[in-house]
This record gives sequence, structure tokens and C-alpha cells, in this order.
Amino acid sequence: MQMKILPFKFEALKDFAREMDVRDSLKHFREKFYIPKQLNGEDVIYLTGNSLGLQPKTTRVYIEQELKDWETLGVEGHFKANNPWMAYHELLTEQMARIVGANPVETVVMNSLTVNLHLLMVSFYRPTKERHKIVIEGGAFPSDQYAVASQIKFHGFDTENSLIEVQPRENETSLRIEDIEQTIDENADSIALILLGGVNYYTGQAYEMRRVIEAGHKIGAVVGFDLAHAAGNIELRLHDWNVDFAAWCTYKYLNSGPGGIGGCFVHERHAKNFDLPRFAGWWGHDKETRFLMGPEFNPTVGADGWLLSNSPIFQLAALKASLDIFEEVGMNALVEKSKKLTGYLEFLLGEIDDERISVITPAEENRRGCQLSIRVKNADKNLFRAISSKGIVADWREPDVIRVAPVPLYNSFVDVFHFTQILKNCLA
Ligand SMILES: Cc1ncc(COP(=O)(O)O)c(C=O)c1O
Repeated sequence: MQMKILPFKFEALKDFAREMDVRDSLKHFREKFYIPKQLNGEDVIYLTGNSLGLQPKTTRVYIEQELKDWETLGVEGHFKANNPWMAYHELLTEQMARIVGANPVETVVMNSLTVNLHLLMVSFYRPTKERHKIVIEGGAFPSDQYAVASQIKFHGFDTENSLIEVQPRENETSLRIEDIEQTIDENADSIALILLGGVNYYTGQAYEMRRVIEAGHKIGAVVGFDLAHAAGNIELRLHDWNVDFAAWCTYKYLNSGPGGIGGCFVHERHAKNFDLPRFAGWWGHDKETRFLMGPEFNPTVGADGWLLSNSPIFQLAALKASLDIFEEVGMNALVEKSKKLTGYLEFLLGEIDDERISVITPAEENRRGCQLSIRVKNADKNLFRAISSKGIVADWREPDVIRVAPVPLYNSFVDVFHFTQILKNCLA
């Protein structure tokens, strides 16, 4: 006999939230992080892992190991450190690749996000008189807007003619995939590059990446992604989906600490394309011959070929502490819990039923990650100030949105319950 699976039924009760936590097989991961405290000594309700992830308790240990090796070995640490610095970045490659659904040869950890977007655009935005346009989402993160505009100008074009921003329809907040596809079709002969976010920082909308890639490749364009809000948040299959390139930061969902080192993906199809123009540095040189110190640059195969400098070991150590936790939990389990946790948040917000707040993030769970963006009527920032004074750490994004992101690694169902109770009380 086949068992009928009942739809998950949430309840707006603290006991229910507690019970969900008891049954949560990932609940012990919260213990692996430092949760900031309120003045009264209680944990804050931290809902900004989409901005800066919390500190794993092991981060200090990982960094101290490197300090110790530096203290005792000096330059010899490059070869003799516990994790020799020479190849330290390679220690992170496979773990990072698993998080974004990539092959190791396609992944590298280096620099920071905007820097990496520029480096990748040097290779993958090759405008011609006919094909010079870049497509981005309307309301892309400002740094991305500045980066693409400056690339367009750098190549002698102007944003008026070469930048397309796909906007949501009137009275809508999310982008429709058919509108993205239509824009691509309408500019089939002139688009050089499509560069979208995986998840939009403001609305929390996750784009249908596969369809964007297919539409882009069909017209002969390159398709890249800024995965700042997607890496470590949603399921990604960059290799299988045939993404050309991607870059992301690791200080959000990947908990590497403020200004942490960035991640990059370059599809295997491009791994041995040494004709691609690129800005070069010695760390991207073929490893076998790097220290012959020859005058000619011979890039390493794969994403490592975009490296410029020797790696910042403390940054890598901080990221490694978090990636080791991701390795234990696995993205599948994380995404599964995330859907429940954010589903519960959405349910409780619905129960508040107050016309002064509305969720602008798509309701379908495969069109979002863990973040919900709550639009506040009349842009009343007092509501945000009020919840902040009650121990909620969320963020306000101009003009009128409170972003909240229950992160499955360390947030609980009770966190979500308390947040909505406080929000409700502050509205009252
Ligand atoms: C979507 C997105 N793109 C780009 C950036 C800029 O990142 P960075 O300062 O690491 O270059 C951010 C930072 O939060 C972001 O959220």
C-alpha cells in the first residue's frame, strides 16, 4: 500500500516551533557558531547571515594554527606548515566545488567578489561592434552595476546603448523568466554577456538560472552569475547547467568573516582555452614551471589559471573552518531544512496579517533561498528600529525593505517564532 504524504502543516505556537527544533537533525550545528549577545545576556535573534555569516567557533583555531606555523617556521611554512601555504588554496577547492555543483578544475578561491567579476569579464566580455550589450537584472547590487558600466566604458561603448536592465512588470517585484527570455530574443544579435545574480540581494528572488543559460547560449552570448546570495544558500549545479563563469563572496552564507576571500567558477569548457584574454599574475602560471621565473606567462589549466597573487593564508584558514562544517552537513540537508525554516517564517508572517507589511520574495520555494524581504508600508523605518531594539538583528534596505534570512546552519524554528512575535508586537 502506498503511503499518502500529507502537506506539511505549520502551527503558530511556540510549542510547535520547539518541537520542530527537537526534530531538526541539524540542530546541533548551531552550537558550532558564536551567536552575538544582547545587553541582557540572551542571544540576539540573528537573521542577517545573508549579509555577514556568524563566526564558527573553530575559526580561531584554524587561524591560530597558521600564526603558530608562521611563528615557528617563518618562510619555511610555505612547505612545512601543517597545511603548507604553497598549496593552501587547493585545500578548499573540492569543498567549494561541491557547494556550487562544480568540478574542482572549475573552481578557485581568490580575491574578492567585485575584483573577480572584473577579472572574469576581462576574459568573458569581449564586445564587438555588433555584439556589445550586457544584460543585468534591474535592481542588481550596485557594485555589479558599477562593474558592468565601467567594463562597457572601458571597451569604448556607452551604457545607454550597451546596457540592458530587465525590469519587473508594473506593480510586480519579481522578474519573470519569460521577460528575461524575451529581452534575450529581442537583442539576439547584439548581446555579448548576460550577468545576473543567482538570488537578488533585495527581493530574495532566485532566478531560473537554467532557462537563462539556455536562452543566452542559444543566441551565442556568454552567461555569468554573481552568486553572492546563492552560494551556500540554494542548490547550484554550475557545471551541469553549463554556466560560463560565476563569482561569489564567502562572508555571507559561507561564514568566512568580514571581507572574506571570494570564490570563482569557470566552466571546464574554457579550462584549456589559453587564447582567452586574461589579466595575468604569477600564481596563475602553470604550477610545474612557476618557479623557473620565466618571462612568459603560461596559465594553469582551469579556474586556477585566473589566480594572480599568492594566497592570503589567514583568509583561507577562516574560510576552511566554515567549509569543513559545510562538508559535515552537506548542501542537500541544508537546503531541505532551509525550505522548512523559511516556509515557517512565511507562514507566521501570513498569520500576522497586517496591511503595513508584505513579503515581496516569491512564494514558490524554488524561486527563493532562505531570505524573505518584507516591504514596509510608507517606508516606515520606525518598525525596523523597534524590532532592532528588541534583540532582532535584521537589515533595512532602502527604500522600504526589511530583509530577514533564517540560516539553516544556525537559526532555529524558535528564532523564527520569536522574530514574528516581536514584529507583531511592534506593529501593535
Ligand atoms: C550581490 C552582491 N554583489 C556584489 C557585492 C560586492 O561584494 P564585494 O564587496 O565583496 O566585492 C555584494 C556585497 O554584499 C553583493 O551582495
